[in-house]
Amino acid sequence: MKTFKKTVLTMALLLVSAGNLAAEKVCVSTPNNTLLLLAEKGSELKFVYYGNKLSGEDMENIFYNEKYMPAAYPVYGLYCQGESALAVRHGDGNMTLQMEVSEVEKTSDENSETTVIKMKDKVFPFYINVYYKAYIDADVIETWTEIFHAEKKNVELNNFASAYLPIRRGDVWLSHLYGSWANESRLMQEPLEAGMKVIKNKDGVRNSHTAHAEVMFSLDGKPQENYGSVIGAALCYSGNYKLRIDTDDSEYHHFFAGINEENSMYSLQKNEVFQTPELALTFSDEGLSGASRNFHSWARLHKIAHGSTLRKILLNSWEGVYFDINQEGMDQMMADIASMGGELFVMDDGWFGGKYPRNNDSSSLGDWVVDSRKLPNGIEGLLADAAKHNIKFGIWLEPEMANTASELFEKHPEWVIESAQRDLVTGRGGTQVVLDLANPEVQDFIFDLVDGLMTKYPEIDYIKWDANMSITNHGSNYLDTSRQSHLYIEYHRGFEKVCQRIRHKYPDLTIQACASGGGRANYGVMPYFDEFWVSDNTDALQRIYMQWGASYFFPAIAMASHISAAPNHQTFRSIPLKYRIDVAMSGRLGMEIQPKNMTDEEKNLCRKAIAEYKEIRPVVQLGDIYRLISPYDNLGVASLMYISRDKTEAVFYWWKTEHFVNQHLPRVKMAGLDPDKTYTVRELNRIDNEPLSFEGKSFSGRYLMNTGLEIPYNHIVDYHKKNDYSSRVLYLEVK
Ligand code: GLA
Repeated sequence: MKTFKKTVLTMALLLVSAGNLAAEKVCVSTPNNTLLLLAEKGSELKFVYYGNKLSGEDMENIFYNEKYMPAAYPVYGLYCQGESALAVRHGDGNMTLQMEVSEVEKTSDENSETTVIKMKDKVFPFYINVYYKAYIDADVIETWTEIFHAEKKNVELNNFASAYLPIRRGDVWLSHLYGSWANESRLMQEPLEAGMKVIKNKDGVRNSHTAHAEVMFSLDGKPQENYGSVIGAALCYSGNYKLRIDTDDSEYHHFFAGINEENSMYSLQKNEVFQTPELALTFSDEGLSGASRNFHSWARLHKIAHGSTLRKILLNSWEGVYFDINQEGMDQMMADIASMGGELFVMDDGWFGGKYPRNNDSSSLGDWVVDSRKLPNGIEGLLADAAKHNIKFGIWLEPEMANTASELFEKHPEWVIESAQRDLVTGRGGTQVVLDLANPEVQDFIFDLVDGLMTKYPEIDYIKWDANMSITNHGSNYLDTSRQSHLYIEYHRGFEKVCQRIRHKYPDLTIQACASGGGRANYGVMPYFDEFWVSDNTDALQRIYMQWGASYFFPAIAMASHISAAPNHQTFRSIPLKYRIDVAMSGRLGMEIQPKNMTDEEKNLCRKAIAEYKEIRPVVQLGDIYRLISPYDNLGVASLMYISRDKTEAVFYWWKTEHFVNQHLPRVKMAGLDPDKTYTVRELNRIDNEPLSFEGKSFSGRYLMNTGLEIPYNHIVDYHKKNDYSSRVLYLEVK
């Protein structure tokens, strides 16, 4: 009741004092979105509106309609029954905050306009600055908060969300990703019900194996791909996070996102600035795919390393040879990928170790010296081979880790994360440990590892940066006893510092974020990494589901997607090569296979696919996604397409996900084309004896979107080649 009275009073003030500096409407705008706030000096910052761009008139009159104006960044202490973004304990034990707007500032650069709303506590010398960065070339607003004080004693931060957003109740559905190792990025969709929905991570190192730090809210009922209003939110953080959606007895779902505060109480010193990670927000009235397109454009332009540069087609050695690395084997793989038209070879795990050779996963991490027993000519020899085959060379590292069986651990046992007075809990291989990235010496060690390699071998084009362990021991030998609860936060600050130093010195290097597969798909790391390994599971059928989920937030250019062997090494499913190729070609195409074991016919199919992928690469990697039929809808088929920005080219994917005789599959209507343009259809990766009936024929975008092409359910091939899989990739071009 009190809150309501206060709101009415605020409205009155605004209306009475229109034009008065005391009541400032703060409008944060991207090309198609508006976020509207009310910043009245001496009062709490209020949230008014987030959605499609408002006209001037709507902006004036909206206050007559929006009677509920919650705090834009709710703090704990007064009216404390709701959830809050920030909760602290002052040095004198006081548990309350009352933040009042003191100043609003706007600054801009060539890509964005940033609004900062500065607030001070009514009593304590305690401050927050809430930032809103609006891009002028992408419909994303990033919001984050700075927290600082000038109190004598440290202030304990118990809750420190990046941001808060109220979402009007109705029939709101949440789409989010959930999974586990080898089954990452599974799409989950559910209506928001009363109570609290929490999406969180506590791994310490990798934060996207299970839940993801990105969500979408469909505001108009059951989620639809190509219509309806959607709010998307992505927390740009590599560490532990918590997303909370509280549906209380009000008209709103209350959405909070930030660092997970559990076991991370932060003791903030006088004048120290605590900066939260950004929460990226987008709004689209073109459904889930529309929100994805907004995220993808923003990511390619601003949030992924080299987001607008086409990626090379590569072969990675892991599933081909595992730890069995040697000079001849690497040379053979390089020759094979080069002969199929590939552009890069990546040598995975198993190449290093002096006293402790890395023959399996139980030793050697940290000892980043070439194992000369396996590679007598060293990295020089490998680079010479790559040059001979006219391809680039990349290398696997797991820089944040060590094994207890390593020279590094013998020299620096104090560098590992361990709990004082406790036995060490180890990870992979029974001996893996995590280095303490809170420690600047460890940060230097990791930077020097990359710097040393790159200085000696500037030809190295690509690093696969792996991270295969969680923080399983809470304890840092570097942090003093009063700061042990800062471990998770300091780890990721240290990690980011190292990434920044590497990127500063090696801006052109391609770096993949791998973390036991898809453990590091997040926008905290992507500014420093070019791509992520979607999953250690390379089974094409299961990849359709995982890549579908990941595509909600990440563009194809960032999703490493490799053709692997049959039977698959994770699921043991035997999927024909054509289908494996057609799935891999919907992301950043690569191979993860021993080419030596492939037949000439298989190599030829890959050679053709690589050549065709080169043609469509700009559309796949830089185009707009339209998801058409979801594999999660169990209709027997999954389909999506990418369309060039000017809508003159498109690539359409169709994968059958179930096989029954005389089954009925829906005809897929396309989306996103220009209705008035005429598109000529060409099938890629064709294996059928006869071309499709519509091969080379032209159709209007209108027809393709209203009716769709009738795709044959099976391939017409010789009897001995028939199998239970079927897939198509069509290239559409305006001639
Ligand atoms: C992790 C990665 C794999 C591979 C191995 C090497 O599991 O996800 O791709 O690099 O490590 O040990």
